[in-house]
Amino acid sequence: MNTTTETILDTEFKKDVYAGLTAFPKYLFSKYIYDKKGDKLFQDIMDLEEYYLTNSEFEIFTENKKAICELFRGNGHGFDLIELGAGDGKKTKVLLRHLDEDGFDFIYKPIDISENAINRLRDDLAKELPNVPVHPEKGEYFEVLERLHLYKVRKKVIMVLGSNIGNLLHPRAIDFLAHLRDTMNSEDLIFMGFDQKKEPQTILDAYNDPHGVTETFNKNLLERINKEMGGNFDLDKFKHWEVYDPESGTAKSYLIAKEAMSVRIDAIDLSVQFDPWETIHTEISQKYDYKIVEWLAEESGLEIVTSFVDSRNYFKDYVFRRK
Ligand code: AVI
Repeated sequence: MNTTTETILDTEFKKDVYAGLTAFPKYLFSKYIYDKKGDKLFQDIMDLEEYYLTNSEFEIFTENKKAICELFRGNGHGFDLIELGAGDGKKTKVLLRHLDEDGFDFIYKPIDISENAINRLRDDLAKELPNVPVHPEKGEYFEVLERLHLYKVRKKVIMVLGSNIGNLLHPRAIDFLAHLRDTMNSEDLIFMGFDQKKEPQTILDAYNDPHGVTETFNKNLLERINKEMGGNFDLDKFKHWEVYDPESGTAKSYLIAKEAMSVRIDAIDLSVQFDPWETIHTEISQKYDYKIVEWLAEESGLEIVTSFVDSRNYFKDYVFRRK
């Protein structure tokens, strides 16, 4: 990379797009799907019948809210409930309502990469649960880890729902969990959702819905590059493709070029050549079983306190503490 290119790459997004589209094989990070349109598309995905993850975790919350809230209670000094990747907070609201009604002493701190999502959640909660103290923050997972150290005056519960952890490959997931562990005192807890291995077709259907919402969601990466970097990707010339490996439990999303083409991205002064059927890897959505979660916990210095599962055994929420 020459000095002019280095100066042009003045944001993380530009740097990552440049690195991903000049690599072989090509890749783009899924975190860049989430602008205003991407957030809305993810909302639409969560409403799909095929995307069972949301309903399964919602069922876990509804059926176990009392037991979950008791775990959070602690030693009578109250607690800070910190949610990373809070999104629309649909599932968390089940807990928040219960905590509020039962007079728990707590604050809720939702953190999300999307400013949009976090502002909407703040406004919703002000209307729906006006007594719950809400301290929203915008930020990325790894970036907010540092700030979590500040929450040490009383018990904290760190929530990561929706199998968001599944968008990280195992080494990064361990790194993330180990960093969380480093911010924890002995009574602190992690409450985390893990999508389970299951009938492979069910997983493929969840990431390849017949309505094309997931396809539009995936292609939003290219649309963002077009909008924000003066790109000229022709979205119709790419196909959304999902694969699931039942052995590793890894679901992978791709965008595949249907024909040879050259794509120009002005803002980063890049022309990208695609061969017919060349891939851009865009996302991983890891699926888990008990052994994998135990191993992740072990590697990160955590131990499993308990877990909650839905009636179809599709999804599990695990509670961890420091070992
Ligand atoms: C946010 N994340 C956990 C979702 C998932 O299941 O990997 C994103 C998503 N990608 C396609 N559909 C939903």
